[in-house]
Amino acid sequence: MNPSTPPSFKNPRAKYNFQGRTCSITGVGSYVPSRVLTNAELEKMVDTSDEWITTRTGIKERRIAGPNEFTSDLGAQAALRALQHAGVSPEEVELIIVATITPDMPFPATACLVQQKIGAHRAAAFDLEAACSGFIYGLEVAQQFITSRTYDTVLVIGAEKLSTIVDWKDRNTCVLFGDGAGAVVLQNRPNSHGLLTAVMGADGRKADLLFVAGGGSRCPASAESIAAGMHYLRMEGRETYKSAVQAMETAAEEALRRCEIDISRIKCIIPHQANRRIIDAVVERLGGKPEQLFVNLHKYGNTSAASVVIALDEAVASGRIQRGDLVLLVAFGGGLTWGAAVIEW
Ligand code: UT7
Repeated sequence: MNPSTPPSFKNPRAKYNFQGRTCSITGVGSYVPSRVLTNAELEKMVDTSDEWITTRTGIKERRIAGPNEFTSDLGAQAALRALQHAGVSPEEVELIIVATITPDMPFPATACLVQQKIGAHRAAAFDLEAACSGFIYGLEVAQQFITSRTYDTVLVIGAEKLSTIVDWKDRNTCVLFGDGAGAVVLQNRPNSHGLLTAVMGADGRKADLLFVAGGGSRCPASAESIAAGMHYLRMEGRETYKSAVQAMETAAEEALRRCEIDISRIKCIIPHQANRRIIDAVVERLGGKPEQLFVNLHKYGNTSAASVVIALDEAVASGRIQRGDLVLLVAFGGGLTWGAAVIEW
């Protein structure tokens, strides 16, 4: 499906109450590594400038995980903070979904490693791969389990150590990405609202815009694949940019339409933090106002599946989102994938 044409959303459901079940966010948390990599430092690594990075993307710095700090460690820290915020113990968690494109290893799932690290021994655990849209995909999957009465308590985590798949010699990409994680606790909470709707979409015809070619079954890791840099992320920046604006607009409009909510009623718009120009273009097309936006990309760059949930955590912690506020999440990523969600906080 082409992101320029509206996807045919098959599920017309728009109400938040599913036969008495709700999918409420009862806790949110995030974690970023302490090491800050500034634009000034990147100027010494590749032919770039703070001025170029700032004006083209809005990014000023990003966080880089240490050599012994893995995606599962970032995810576990974020999860523990979300559980503490919710007042939920790890033993109460029934399912852990980790959205990531940088798992600790091809298998076992990073979700299993997080399960062990936080002591959530009762939980089923799996990874979900939808690139930068992964967290919103995770919300929708969790909602299905909760509203179908399969589980009452689900952890959805977006966690990435993108510094391990960035080619630090490629100025087209290395200035954009950073490491970090965020998590939410989702629970059935009668008499509260929570997730009103989530929209997901994909267009595999554009898979070649953003990818890591090596290390899978098509091109297993070998001396040749390493020498050719096939274990690094590659991107067609300009085409990705165009598709991102179109797909995020379409997904957000569909999510709002399903809930019968006008953009003016949204208190906080939290977009995937990839590029300030993409974010501003999407909000303008949606008819939103700059003051509705929450942006923290200047501090962290693009953290893929973690970006929306890190921003959600910061928006809540800073008081930008209060109980009862309507929040719009919207994302776009490799695949291509896209997604949007409306939450009543
Ligand atoms: O998570 C979702 C996936 N990713 C994205 O959403 C990224 C989407 N794309 C973008 O954000 C933008 O396309 C970029 C930030 C990647 C690039 O911005 P742009 O305005 O589209 O620049 P461009 O690709 O058209 O390149 C303009 C120039 C080129 O030089 P020439 O060919 O005009 O001489 C690039 O080589 O800028 C050059 N360039 C740089 N110069 C300094 C590319 N990267 C850099 C750099 N520093 N880091």
